[in-house]
Amino acid sequence: MRRSLAVAAALLTTAALAAAHAPRAAPATTLLVLPDGANPHPVQLLLPPRKPLSAVARLGRKLFFYTGLSGSGRMSCASCHDPAHAYAPANSLSVQFGGGHLSRPGVRAVPSLEYLYRQQNFSIGPDNEENETVTLRQLVARGQRAPRLRKTASDARASAANLVPQGGLFWDGRVDTLQQQADGPLFNPLEMDAGSTERVARKLRGSRYAKRLVALFGSAVLHQPRLLVSEALFALARYQVEDPSFHPFTSKYDAWLQGRARFTPAQARGYRVFNDPREGDCAACHLDRPGPDGSPPLFTDTQYEALGVPRNPAIPANRNPRYFDLGLCGPYRKDLAAQTRYCGMFLTPTLRNAATRHAFFHNGIYHTLEQVLEFYDDRDTRPWRIYPTLDGRVDKFDDLPRRLRGNVDRVDPPLDRRPGQPEAMSRRDMRDLVAFLRTLDDGWRRHRGARRRHALR
Ligand code: HEC
Ligand code: HEC
Repeated sequence: MRRSLAVAAALLTTAALAAAHAPRAAPATTLLVLPDGANPHPVQLLLPPRKPLSAVARLGRKLFFYTGLSGSGRMSCASCHDPAHAYAPANSLSVQFGGGHLSRPGVRAVPSLEYLYRQQNFSIGPDNEENETVTLRQLVARGQRAPRLRKTASDARASAANLVPQGGLFWDGRVDTLQQQADGPLFNPLEMDAGSTERVARKLRGSRYAKRLVALFGSAVLHQPRLLVSEALFALARYQVEDPSFHPFTSKYDAWLQGRARFTPAQARGYRVFNDPREGDCAACHLDRPGPDGSPPLFTDTQYEALGVPRNPAIPANRNPRYFDLGLCGPYRKDLAAQTRYCGMFLTPTLRNAATRHAFFHNGIYHTLEQVLEFYDDRDTRPWRIYPTLDGRVDKFDDLPRRLRGNVDRVDPPLDRRPGQPEAMSRRDMRDLVAFLRTLDDGWRRHRGARRRHALR
């Protein structure tokens, strides 16, 4: 079951997989929005089927909320991945506290668990059949020789073929599947701190779920700690794959794509800013078009980029001036440590439900969407507003050691500007962009004014 995510994706729709690598880029001249706010090119979206959960997924749901496995006895997956907050934390801390006494601070912001159902395995370049037989080292070598295309919103299809790191889970893609993923947080001393496999197995055997585990996986599991834990993790993964709450597609934007909603004037303007390579150009990386088969856009190209976000003093690990979170090249993943040109790169997250999040970017440095937009707008044109000043000089890209600062993306708009050039977005553009980003929140109801419009969950 190593490839449980890929299996899951196949269950949902195989066509969607192909589409994930072939985003359709409308030519720049295409009309984006009709004057009345409607979609000029409505589509039928190919949504994951809604079926009752399998017995394994139902057990997974119980385990997701079960605090009994954690070292503290008080922490479950839902403590950090709260279903009422798009499976992200309810609070606005940059990092969450875990461990045996819930007092140990984490090192990265908690990502949402939503919309991971089509995530491919980590790879350099698209994770297709051809690449399946090739080692990561060979892929790295290939990627080294290949030119990288500049990404723009009007040419996203071309950059999908870039031989760059993509896919995988966690901010640094260090694991491929949801099943592997769960043992990270479960055993991580900064998170659930569950102790050894034997200890978790003992707790599972003594828990009210022991009978279910035997019924589903056979009585032999009780005597094989490794197997028992691995089946429990499998159940957690099935829950995340099968339960529609992890990929609801009930946003206003989904309704708009299908011709069932109209943008307000502010949302329509924001959508243009999102797509205009001379303005936000957000869609270059946060893909917003359905695939040719109607697979809904996930607002990420799943590629890795170094954006050079500022160092976050609120993360205790950062008190050590020699500590740097370098994403793809460590310290939490080890296999790409020698590939220094990947240092500082992090996975492009989905923007679905981003407006409900309280900590943004891998280090949770920002707490509002407005701050995020100011980062994109000011990073190169007014860097002193983003970075600290050291000895009278702006310490640009201060969360990377100096020798690695050249890795930061300076080619993809809006990150291609020079000091003194006008910013990509005006104040009003940014206000409109936020209005558009809010259309990506799930739980939208068609009839405005209906009281339960936002109360789907
Ligand atoms: C103490 C908070 C905490 C708890 C509890 C926790 N997680 Fe997480 N989770 C995180 C953080 C932080 C990350 C990102 C870590 C990184 O990128 O290195 C993460 C990442 C993930 C991801 C990857 C998401 C993505 O976008 O790639 C998955 C899946 C996940 N967790 C599942 C779980 C499951 C299942 C449990 C319960 C067994 C759990 N988590 C418990 C904090 C937590
Ligand atoms: C060159 C690719 C690229 C472009 C262009 C881009 N982004 Fe991003 N975006 C990323 C990456 C990569 C991250 C994560 C970086 C990190 O955490 O270090 C990110 C993170 C974000 C986040 C934080 C999400 C979260 O859950 O933490 C938001 C919000 C966001 N981008 C919005 C936008 C908007 C709005 C635009 C257009 C103004 C935009 N992005 C343009 C690649 C891009």
